Amino acid sequence: MVKKCQFMIFGATGDLTYKKLLPAIFSLYKEGELCDKFKLILIGRRSLTLEDYLKDLDVEVTKQLAFHNFKDHLTYHQMDFSKQEDYEALNHYLSKENWVFYLATAPRFFEVISSHLDHYGYLDESAGFRRIVFEKPFGINFSDAKKINKHISKILDESQIFRIDHYLGKEMIQNILLTRAYNSFIEMLWHKDAIDYFEIVISEESGVHNRAGYYDGSGALKDMVQNHMFQIVALLSMDLPESLIPEVIQEEKSKILKQIKVMHNLVVGQYQGYLDEKGVKADSETETFVAMEVHVDNRRWKDTPFYLKTGKALKDKYAQVVVHFKKMSSVSENLLIIQIQPDEGIKLKINSKKPGVSNEIDNVTMDYCHSCLKYGDEPSAYGRLLLDVILGDKSLFASWDEIESSWHAIDKIEKIKPQPLIYEKHSDWHENLLIKKGWYKYD
Ligand code: BG6
Repeated sequence: MVKKCQFMIFGATGDLTYKKLLPAIFSLYKEGELCDKFKLILIGRRSLTLEDYLKDLDVEVTKQLAFHNFKDHLTYHQMDFSKQEDYEALNHYLSKENWVFYLATAPRFFEVISSHLDHYGYLDESAGFRRIVFEKPFGINFSDAKKINKHISKILDESQIFRIDHYLGKEMIQNILLTRAYNSFIEMLWHKDAIDYFEIVISEESGVHNRAGYYDGSGALKDMVQNHMFQIVALLSMDLPESLIPEVIQEEKSKILKQIKVMHNLVVGQYQGYLDEKGVKADSETETFVAMEVHVDNRRWKDTPFYLKTGKALKDKYAQVVVHFKKMSSVSENLLIIQIQPDEGIKLKINSKKPGVSNEIDNVTMDYCHSCLKYGDEPSAYGRLLLDVILGDKSLFASWDEIESSWHAIDKIEKIKPQPLIYEKHSDWHENLLIKKGWYKYD
């Protein structure tokens, strides 16, 4: 364990901090994964006492915080991140020790915050490490991302830069490569001749809530596809390197991201009532749903569709990858289902004899429940990644090359994006639509 590690979160009054970061840090603390003397400085623009700040947390979590004395480690600090002079007061906390700065803000603040931290010498590592976590999306398009990257690369060493994608911290996302690497029968069939198509779904039940200020300028493509979904495509389709060394994995993923070819049958939707959400422009055409077909333009995957589907205010909350193997005869296709959430596991659909005297075939499921094997309180995706930041391990973070390539693909899609279709909240309109379009070849 690193002896001293302190966190400073910029954007502490945002949803991400309340819903994901604070609970993740709290659970690391409760499990004894954080240093005893750790401090967490929560930075926001509003003038609040810590008590007021914590009022917006989930009641259950708040009760627990008090119980475990977690609150004693927290400080709420009010400042305006765009004002250089406001950073002077941070010296009080930052004179020594290891610090992780978490920029849980929109990307337009990345340059200004890092510049001001640099101006006061807070990024100097002589008294301990100074690492910055940049929340996704890293930029709003390729040229913006490039500008941010150029800027931060001037003031930070690459070892201090952590471009986060929390999906990479999820158990089953990590398991994609491992399952491929350690099961010869899977990897031997992992190519276009055996696989018909891949289906990657991240479906969310909730709408945008109070994140419209950010989301309306982003939409599902930039919020989910550029990062989480493209990372999954890369993990599914990359060549397996001889050893699973982080830099080599990043390089292989980056090769795939460069080969992503966007097909033109793209469906975008917006849920009914989105325009009434607080912070959404009255005539907004931002998509809250996207379904698209991409190909990976190389020999291994020639003409193999990867169908991506993600959206808000849909019927269920779940994420999974379904690998559809080519059909041999009139029986059902074999499927490999990687369940990412809420259940974590792997299912294999195979054809087998029905019990009894006939030779009838049934399509049955072999079911591995990953979550059932967990002991105690495993760290959440954010918890796992925060620990990695403290340890300086960048294996599960995105490299600039990966980000650059995925923005190139998104910029192309933005140009062909049609107007959104309006859908009823929590309906399964898209399933019918996509089946009609022939995207899903269910029996
Ligand atoms: C975030 C997006 O990256 O991922 C959110 O900004 C989305 O819009 C969230 O809700 C989904 O994450 P998870 O872990 O709840 O599937």
